[in-house]
Amino acid sequence: MPIIVWNADFILGVQQFDEHHHHLVDLLNQAYDDFIAGAGSDSINKILDELVDYATYHFAAEEHWMSEMSYPMFDEHRAEHNRFSSRVAEMLKDCNGDRMSLWLEVMTFLNNWLTNHILKSDARYGHYIAAKGISLHLV
Ligand SMILES: [Fe+2]
Ligand SMILES: [Fe+2]
Repeated sequence: MPIIVWNADFILGVQQFDEHHHHLVDLLNQAYDDFIAGAGSDSINKILDELVDYATYHFAAEEHWMSEMSYPMFDEHRAEHNRFSSRVAEMLKDCNGDRMSLWLEVMTFLNNWLTNHILKSDARYGHYIAAKGISLHLV
């Protein structure tokens, strides 16, 4: 049972980033499936580490692209990414051991943050380029 159900609302129209978002959602769902199946901390931690690494890669790609596009909300957007990275690092540090309630807290945070960020903040750059008529294909 997925914690996030991927749906058409997540599609922003920038293919590369839509694929990145889909992968992030898949990783979170994998971690959640493991959690529900009673997997140990090591296995959940491994997937969430992968998610954080991938999020870092994705944020850098978005930020590079926004800068190229002279996106007016670039600074605020980057600050949101940075706050996320610090918060997740802090939460994962607290997850040593097998305290399952903490894993659930992390996954709930990831679910809320990813959903909100994609549907609100990331959606804004989708609207921005659509309004400007900029090609949706990345270089
Ligand atoms: Fe994104
Ligand atoms: Fe973003």
